[in-house]
Amino acid sequence: MPKVTYFSGETFPLEMHKVRIIQKLTLLPIEVRLRAVQDSGYNTFLLQNKDVFLDMLTDSGVNAMSDRQQAAMLLADDAYAGSATFTRLHNKLIEIFGQRYFLPAHQGRAAEHILCKAYVRPGSIVPCNYHFTTWKAHVTEQGGTVVELLKKEGLEVNSDNPFKGNFDVPALEALIAEVGVEHIPYVRMEAGTNLIGGQPFSLANLREVSAACHKHGIKLVLDASLLADNLHFIKVREPEFADASVGEIARAMADTTDIIYFSARKLGFGRGGGIVTDDEVSYKEMRGFVPMYEGFLTYGGMSVREMEAITVGLDETLDEDMINQGPQFIAHIVKTLDEAGVPVITPPGGLGAHVDAMRFLDHLPQEQYPAAALASAIFIASGVRGMERGTMSEQREPDGTEPLADMELVRLAVPRRVFTLSQVNYAIDRLMWLHANRKIVGGLKWVEEPELLRFFYGRLEPIGDWHNELVAKFRADFGDSL
Ligand code: F0G
Repeated sequence: MPKVTYFSGETFPLEMHKVRIIQKLTLLPIEVRLRAVQDSGYNTFLLQNKDVFLDMLTDSGVNAMSDRQQAAMLLADDAYAGSATFTRLHNKLIEIFGQRYFLPAHQGRAAEHILCKAYVRPGSIVPCNYHFTTWKAHVTEQGGTVVELLKKEGLEVNSDNPFKGNFDVPALEALIAEVGVEHIPYVRMEAGTNLIGGQPFSLANLREVSAACHKHGIKLVLDASLLADNLHFIKVREPEFADASVGEIARAMADTTDIIYFSARKLGFGRGGGIVTDDEVSYKEMRGFVPMYEGFLTYGGMSVREMEAITVGLDETLDEDMINQGPQFIAHIVKTLDEAGVPVITPPGGLGAHVDAMRFLDHLPQEQYPAAALASAIFIASGVRGMERGTMSEQREPDGTEPLADMELVRLAVPRRVFTLSQVNYAIDRLMWLHANRKIVGGLKWVEEPELLRFFYGRLEPIGDWHNELVAKFRADFGDSL
């Protein structure tokens, strides 16, 4: 992290890279943005990117590559078997994690598929700090059940707890006593816990989880997709590691775990994924699924060009000037919005800023999808595309009843090295305007509700005429501004 003190006494993020390739953006007039949101059934997943000004839907596969990554892609060695590109990636993973075996996969959920095929059986119970959607789907498909053993404080929307992703170790002991160790194939810890706002766990907590698992002969699996953010937070929030390099912290984390898997769409700024382990038996138990579902053992569904980019991207993940860019931008958004009274998840996490729609739109019942309505209203007001993470992302019970989500969030993801601080400040400004006019925003109802994963492609419409009122208020306040 660059140690820079400002004369003005202000603190703001400072990018330690410059932009050398650009892509032109368009900011459409609000009336056109409203039409775009209507055409996409008030579902931000269905928007066309050409209509979007700042795409904050996700940081998956959309992080900016560096000049070194682009250059490495030209050196890719195309071979079905035994390519030098694979060896370079494998060696980089050994260097970082100190574990000998690597199974490549085309993305993170493919690694989850292999892991669940190998270890989850009907009746298995799989504890984790918190679930992620794709992993849970794979556990369930194999007949297992996910049990979340997050420490209770992790679900408090506002807190100053630096490690809301921490796992409740005594709860694991109680679960083992209740269901029997033979039903627990592994414990999964997710770095930078996605669905609770990109919140980290501490290395001390990981070590405690590891000791508890190993005492009972249970494997500890680390989902390292959001490892970079978690490494940064351990360094700046866990005093014991303030002087350690992020490389040393990564190695200390790996030393506690039996299997590590990752989405390289996030970790390594490329497009791919894989599984790492130092245990030959586990390697052989999972190995057969790679050629069966992904591709031969030396590419696993990834292109050689992407593998080269990931190798360099992993190096950049351990560059402390580089990994703090995302967390710094997110901290800036969260701090500025919080000070302005706009409800956000605190403390800031990795991945993105998370707006609390339950409080932002406290006049709406959860049955009217406040997080989805807010995501649409943000797009109308600004051209910024966020993602609904609330009741719309839940699935109905077989009897048709609808579970209401623990939290109603709109996630504004911050892809690494993509946006400038002025673009981020524009998003903050429009959110503040929307918050001042929040009572205008109404709810949504289904027009077309798919049974499976409805949030991806379901279509909704506004209840009432709030969308037109919002546009009229914008024009009244801002004249002919975009
Ligand atoms: N694990 C975590 C913690 C993730 O955040 C993701 C993806 C995956 C696994 C699956 O990886 O997409 O490469 O198959 N998260 C994306 C997101 C989709 O937008 O948060 P994948």
